[in-house]
Amino acid sequence: MQALVTGGAQGIGYQIVESLISDGFSVTVFDVNPETLKKVKTNFGCEVFAVDVSIESDVKEAISQLKSLDALINNAGIWKPEPLDTLDIEIQKTVWETNVLGTLNCTKHALPKLQKSDSSCVINLTSAASRTNSPGLGMYAASKAAIETLTRQWSLELAPIRVNAVGPGMVITEGTASNYQGKALGIRSQAVPLKRIGGPADISQVVSFLASPKSSYITGQVIFVDGGVTAGAPGHN
Ligand SMILES: NC(=O)c1ccc[n+]([C@@H]2O[C@H](COP(=O)([O-])OP(=O)(O)OC[C@H]3O[C@@H](n4cnc5c(N)ncnc54)[C@H](O)[C@@H]3O)[C@@H](O)[C@H]2O)c1
Repeated sequence: MQALVTGGAQGIGYQIVESLISDGFSVTVFDVNPETLKKVKTNFGCEVFAVDVSIESDVKEAISQLKSLDALINNAGIWKPEPLDTLDIEIQKTVWETNVLGTLNCTKHALPKLQKSDSSCVINLTSAASRTNSPGLGMYAASKAAIETLTRQWSLELAPIRVNAVGPGMVITEGTASNYQGKALGIRSQAVPLKRIGGPADISQVVSFLASPKSSYITGQVIFVDGGVTAGAPGHN
């Protein structure tokens, strides 16, 4: 079994690589950061490509070198929070291009490599932010809502290939660690119904499930893995 994980050089993506390898997949990793990619290659012996998923020609060229795929995990994503009145449109375009067009580029060019069967799958990373509507998140929340819509659309278009999305809540990664310094960790944990911030393994084990035959009748779904954040505000107990 062959999987491609984008943004797999750190954070949630790195943990997804580890989980899929332990499930028996051979994993290829695309990441824009050549330095952190070296660590993935050393630690897991994976095939790695320094690819920016927002550049279609680079995605096409790298995917053309792969033989076949059973699972595509569109994990690469960025966020640039900026209030609307002062935001920089060029910066917000990079969020759209990475998150939405990156997912589109990889899925389009991976398609010829995916066997037309329910054992093949595409798994897109969305975010609880698409539902919780925090002010100042800029294009990020909208980009994740778009990814959820594409997930449902592609599940119809690509069947029997299964297409699902996983939506993390608050997860500590290299990309988010600065949000949890000092007292912030305790304060943010209290906003989660399950009273803890997630770790990358909380997400990767659900990705593993969606890439396995155990989920062979699931397609077109968004599964939030967020400690209950998208269910509403925690009660006072
Ligand atoms: N950490 C969270 O709390 C959280 C919450 C909700 C959703 N998510 C989503 O989970 C995914 C991973 O988040 P994370 O916290 O692990 O992020 P991270 O910043 O720790 O890691 C992201 C990885 O993606 C790579 N990347 C960024 N832009 C790229 C591009 N254009 N092409 C290729 N690779 C690129 C980075 O180099 C990095 O290795 C993202 O899609 C993010 O939106 C994360």
